Amino acid sequence: MMGTDSMTEQRPRDTIKRLASTRLETFSQILELIRPMLPEHFKAIDLGCGHCLFMDTAADQGFDVYGLDAREERVPAKWRERVTLGRVQDADLAPYDCIFCLGIYYHLTLEDQLAMVAKFSGRPAIVDTHYCSAAPSKTLMAGGQVYAGRDYAEGTALTSSYNDPVTFWPTEPDLIRILGQNHQVMKWLPEHYPGRSFYLLIPKGPRC
Ligand SMILES: C[S@@+](CC[C@H](N)C(=O)[O-])C[C@H]1O[C@@H](n2cnc3c(N)ncnc32)[C@H](O)[C@@H]1O
Repeated sequence: MMGTDSMTEQRPRDTIKRLASTRLETFSQILELIRPMLPEHFKAIDLGCGHCLFMDTAADQGFDVYGLDAREERVPAKWRERVTLGRVQDADLAPYDCIFCLGIYYHLTLEDQLAMVAKFSGRPAIVDTHYCSAAPSKTLMAGGQVYAGRDYAEGTALTSSYNDPVTFWPTEPDLIRILGQNHQVMKWLPEHYPGRSFYLLIPKGPRC
């Protein structure tokens, strides 16, 4: 199946904002929930920030927010100084107190999903992702554990995976197992798209 993001790259910003309005509203509500978990002075990072609309929302709600994306084409001029150009696989998340992972998790391989989530340890995180909602067609082993799901064939859009032609969508139980390595996982309902939802990750312990 070709990536569902492949049609979005040429859309004007107000169209992207309208299409993302339900996600932006949900994100805003989750920000209100996590604000009391954060220290007085804190920094947040938006992984795969793309158009930076979620950074706009976070900034409007008083978050000191930075971004990271492998591509610069969709980053608006006003955010360029706060957005680092790079791969999430190489990112140092240590300076940040709060992680946003919206629309990028499902553009990663299983190994990179596990490695990225391990780096969220000790901090609240918000993940918005598709998962494999049909019968799984593949199982993979990583770190001595088995995960079920399906392959996802990436396109060439600016919204697609930066460097992986095929990525992996775990089933929802296995997604929650991955996200729950070091966090309690709360699913946001209703799903904003069938087979896609927001997950709030609350740290089980302090940062490693
Ligand atoms: C589907 S868009 C999501 C944009 C926005 N976060 C949202 O939820 O609407 C995926 C974004 O992740 C970026 N991306 C894909 N693979 C990446 C990687 N390995 N490292 C950093 N950014 C990546 C893409 O360039 C794109 O901007």
